[in-house]
Amino acid sequence: MNEQSPMAFVDLKAQYQAHKAQIDGAIQQVLDHGRFIMGPEVAELETALCQFAGAKYAIGCSSGTDALVLTMMAEDIGPGDAVFVPAFTFTATAEVPLLLGATPVFVDVDPDDFNIDCDDLERRIEAVVAAGELTPRAVLAVDLFGLPVDYDRLHAVAERHGLKIWGDAAQSFGGAMGERKVGTLCRATATSFFPAKPLGCYGDGGAVLTDDDALAERMQSIRAHGKGGAKYDIVRVGLNARLDTIQAAVLLAKLPNFPGELGRRETVARRYDELLSDVVKIPSRYQGRVSAWAQYTVKLPADRRDEVAANLRERGIPTAIYYPMPMHMQTAYRAYGDGEGSVPVSERLSGEVLSLPMHPYMEDADVVRVAEALTRAVS
Ligand SMILES: Cc1ncc(COP(=O)(O)O)c(C=O)c1O
Repeated sequence: MNEQSPMAFVDLKAQYQAHKAQIDGAIQQVLDHGRFIMGPEVAELETALCQFAGAKYAIGCSSGTDALVLTMMAEDIGPGDAVFVPAFTFTATAEVPLLLGATPVFVDVDPDDFNIDCDDLERRIEAVVAAGELTPRAVLAVDLFGLPVDYDRLHAVAERHGLKIWGDAAQSFGGAMGERKVGTLCRATATSFFPAKPLGCYGDGGAVLTDDDALAERMQSIRAHGKGGAKYDIVRVGLNARLDTIQAAVLLAKLPNFPGELGRRETVARRYDELLSDVVKIPSRYQGRVSAWAQYTVKLPADRRDEVAANLRERGIPTAIYYPMPMHMQTAYRAYGDGEGSVPVSERLSGEVLSLPMHPYMEDADVVRVAEALTRAVS
């Protein structure tokens, strides 16, 4: 590839070419049997996801956002409930509590792992209790960029205050803490199969993983209009939030290659680490916490970040800013935050972060090209 030819940020075409026969075959099988809604591949995928992650149940659904909706509906979250969320995240994390009438309480993040700051969380829980208007119910912890939250610390805080923990693992499926995989690190873990995610399908898709029998049963019911034992026996208000059979088939075809792809992501990340550690602030690493490397995100001085990104773009290297604005500054959510300055780390990070191309099909030469271009751009 020549110096200036455009590079992919996430190369789904290369992935498809590498596994075309399996993916085409899996889709063709669905076209042949014709059970497009809740066909056999959905249950097969759920079993395979449980085996992969070590969870008791996996409930396939229509997106990562709906995985969060299912979780919170199954937990009867509603008006008067406080759900603690990081301010530095994708919009769905804040959107879902609001959709259900609950109140998101924005918590600052740690400047190094980008995840919810347990000290700030504790302060915000105490403030909500002192104000006496809302009932603290749960923490929705986001494993940003693929790195699991420090769940051990988070469990200690949540237990002290009687809160549940749900994982927003849209970016971290495939990650782990020691031997324990994402999907088993808290009460319910929502993930996304959006195409660009570490394990992506060819449209929208998601799943919730849990070990809790009653929660799993409620989510299975809610994703299919709240049905009870029989199809037209409706026992609760639900949704149409099923996972399409074709998407389940695509995921089943991709899953055997997923461990190898995670290994490649780790190799790419280590190579970036080597090449960039003296150039920019590279992602921190933590003993026992295994990232799925949805993104490789560096930090730059805020007054240089956009110019560096433009320079890379001119050289055919795409980058992305996740996220340019923290949740409490978004027009739709401003009323639920405490305004500018209230979550200073999230505000600072939104000016500093830059995510580099990251996918399992990057050649070493691509990684070197990105690193060299970034080195030139910052000097
Ligand atoms: C942290 C986080 N939560 C939730 C979602 C929502 O997932 P989906 O796009 O599948 O609805 C995403 C997707 O980008 C995400 O990154």
